[in-house]
Amino acid sequence: MEKVIDIRHLNKSFGNHEVLRDVNFSVAKGEVVCLIGSSGSGKSTLLRCINLLETPTGGEIIYNGENILDKNHDIRKHRTHLGMVFQSFNLFNNHNVLKNCVVGQQKVLKRSKQEAESNALKYLEIVGMDKYVSAKPSQLSGGQKQRVAIARALAMDPDVMLFDEPTSALDPEMVGEVLKVMRRLAEEGNTMLIVTHEMEFAKEVADRIVFMDKGVIVEEGPPSQVLVNPQHDRTKEFLKRTLK
Ligand SMILES: Nc1ncnc2c1ncn2[C@@H]1O[C@H](COP(=O)(O)OP(=O)(O)OP(=O)(O)O)[C@@H](O)[C@H]1O
Ligand SMILES: [Mg+2]
Repeated sequence: MEKVIDIRHLNKSFGNHEVLRDVNFSVAKGEVVCLIGSSGSGKSTLLRCINLLETPTGGEIIYNGENILDKNHDIRKHRTHLGMVFQSFNLFNNHNVLKNCVVGQQKVLKRSKQEAESNALKYLEIVGMDKYVSAKPSQLSGGQKQRVAIARALAMDPDVMLFDEPTSALDPEMVGEVLKVMRRLAEEGNTMLIVTHEMEFAKEVADRIVFMDKGVIVEEGPPSQVLVNPQHDRTKEFLKRTLK
């Protein structure tokens, strides 16, 4: 299978605190990978290294065949290939829903207003937010905001969608609507790397689960293996704590 992201011997330290240690893993085109692990295990740092919001201290990140850590690599261009969805939505509060989904396309991808708007509408419809194009973020619920954030990321036509705990800031009744959108994206063949604590979702949607602990990948494999029949004590303990 064609690898979109291939991470080799990745290390990241903050001062003398090693946060990622010899991390090796890859994401293939069309694959849905869920990254799980306790707080502080390095999940967000790993995502942030992939879009170069953090600079790794060692190793390689091969993206579509090119090492993005090469000095000459164009970081801004690299980021346009990745759609990022955060826990905290990060919408532009002064812009309405449509504008939120249009500005990046115009500024970064140099699309015309018309093209950007029709593309934005396509994705707003997919996430069920096309009725809210004129609303400001302050008028939306958390679940609605997150669906707009997902549409905004999709409107950039990224190769890979990166999600960092997209539902953890939501009230419980809104988690379902966001997971439903993500499930649809997964079914449609999008390449997705998702940090999540939603184990049921991960079990149903992921092609592969990667379990991290203290900066190390302890175990990875299909959900039926890692979540149902884990091999390592650390995985077993983590699941015992989170599944109860
Ligand atoms: N900018 C930073 N400077 C110093 N230390 C950092 C920085 N960012 C993260 N860390 C440390 O790196 C470790 C891993 O953090 P990270 O945010 O990647 O964990 P996580 O697995 O995403 O946790 P959570 O589930 O709580 O989001 C933590 O010990 C954290 O304190
Ligand atoms: Mg995190």
